[in-house]
Amino acid sequence: MRTDPIVNIRESLIFERSTPGKTAYSLPPLDVPAADPRSALEPALLRDEIDDFPEVSEFDIVRHFTRLSTWNYHIDIGMYPLGSCTMKYNPKLNEKLWRIPGISACHPLQDDSLAQGNLQIQFELQQILREITGMAGVSLQPAAGAHGELTGILMARAYHNSRNQRRKFVLIPDSAHGTNPASAAIAGYQVRSIPSNADGRVDFDKFREALHDDVACLMLTNPNTLGIFERRIREIADLLHEKDALLYMDGANFNALMGYTRPGEMGVDVMHLNLHKTFSTPHGGGGPGAGPVAVSRRLEPFLPVPLAAKKQDGTYCLDFNRPQSIGRVRAFMGNFGMHARALGYILSCGGAGLKEISETAVLNANYLRHRLQGLLDLPYRQDSFHEVVFSDKLQTKKGVKTLDLAKRLMDFGFHPPTIYFPLIVPGALMIEPTESEGLQELDAFVEAMQSILREAEENPEIVVTAPHTTKLRRLDETRAARQTVLRWRRAPEQDKTPREAARAGD
Ligand SMILES: Cc1ncc(COP(=O)(O)O)c(C=O)c1O
Repeated sequence: MRTDPIVNIRESLIFERSTPGKTAYSLPPLDVPAADPRSALEPALLRDEIDDFPEVSEFDIVRHFTRLSTWNYHIDIGMYPLGSCTMKYNPKLNEKLWRIPGISACHPLQDDSLAQGNLQIQFELQQILREITGMAGVSLQPAAGAHGELTGILMARAYHNSRNQRRKFVLIPDSAHGTNPASAAIAGYQVRSIPSNADGRVDFDKFREALHDDVACLMLTNPNTLGIFERRIREIADLLHEKDALLYMDGANFNALMGYTRPGEMGVDVMHLNLHKTFSTPHGGGGPGAGPVAVSRRLEPFLPVPLAAKKQDGTYCLDFNRPQSIGRVRAFMGNFGMHARALGYILSCGGAGLKEISETAVLNANYLRHRLQGLLDLPYRQDSFHEVVFSDKLQTKKGVKTLDLAKRLMDFGFHPPTIYFPLIVPGALMIEPTESEGLQELDAFVEAMQSILREAEENPEIVVTAPHTTKLRRLDETRAARQTVLRWRRAPEQDKTPREAARAGD
């Protein structure tokens, strides 16, 4: 078990450090008339406690926030094997690059002539993503994978509309990420689910049965959410094209394929990439992502406007002259900060580096699979790509469920894997180590899992009551997400804080 020190200080002393007269920062003397900023505010927006700013020293603040940061799990602390999320390392070089003032401080309304370097970044990223995917055109606008899906489906609709065809259905395998059916439904299509076969791949016969003239497209994740490659993708594309239907590839798992194969050569018409997964830009916590879409020739006219373009004289501009475009899907050019980071990452890795990334991501997933199979049930035994999906079938006999294993991992200093997804695996544990992890960390994870699985056999009570070392134990996760409480408040039974005591005259 990893034993990071847990600082055992009374919570009230951590959150209530205020002492009258302490200051962390002194402003220079005023050289303009003093004004009360509150007089400019709408009185209804003012809270009584506004006068009640904490009075703390700089040291108090540094300690407070440093301590809080140690209560939170993050990729810079340890392995984050959240399957399908690709929680890889975000190299600090990307951040350094993005903070170059000409990049980070450029206003999106700045004239093209004053933003040439940034337009070049976008143009080159579009070109590089075209090259990596083998597709004809790329838009960087979508702000996330799901947003890329919606953009792709809207382009599919524009394509069929341009041919006077009204299509009603989108086919989606039952192993798909939940965002796929949601995107298709938001775009106005009815979703038909295609079952997976015993190999964990899309059931080809069932797909063929469902393919009629009213199908707009199939959304296929490759490798799929079981971590398995859809080998018949070329045949699937040909069958779709015979009906003038399109193949959408969810490319969120592209870190398993980069440098080895290109969706453009598989017959894919439209796909999205998650820059915040494959190309290491930060994600999580609701922060900005980027989900560029790449399209084949037949969908190129429908890409969102504007695109970054290079003129004949070698300068860069925004190209709005695209009459069949579906229009804008995002303000300005999307999350430009992510584009700059992703380009930096791609260029610093180079072509050979990107190929090595895929190789290592697949190797790491297979290493974990090899070390854990037998201890955990492996429902689909086909070769794994970037992730491996186990189930809790062997442990439920002792009353230990996937949720318990995940919670107990936290006691061992690891973030849990994705649980209960994909839905076609009851009690799923979906583990994606990513290429960032070295052998030492993978072995530490395996040892933690081995210990927990031994406990599940010999002392299940400790597993089903985990976690034991975290600040909070088992939460009502739905309420915690929907009604987040962001302020610390003293529990009624806790001692008064020094400030409260002073106020009460104790
Ligand atoms: C396979 C797959 N598709 C789509 C998405 C959705 O991406 P986002 O969360 O950026 O909207 C994800 C997210 O992890 C994914 O794993």
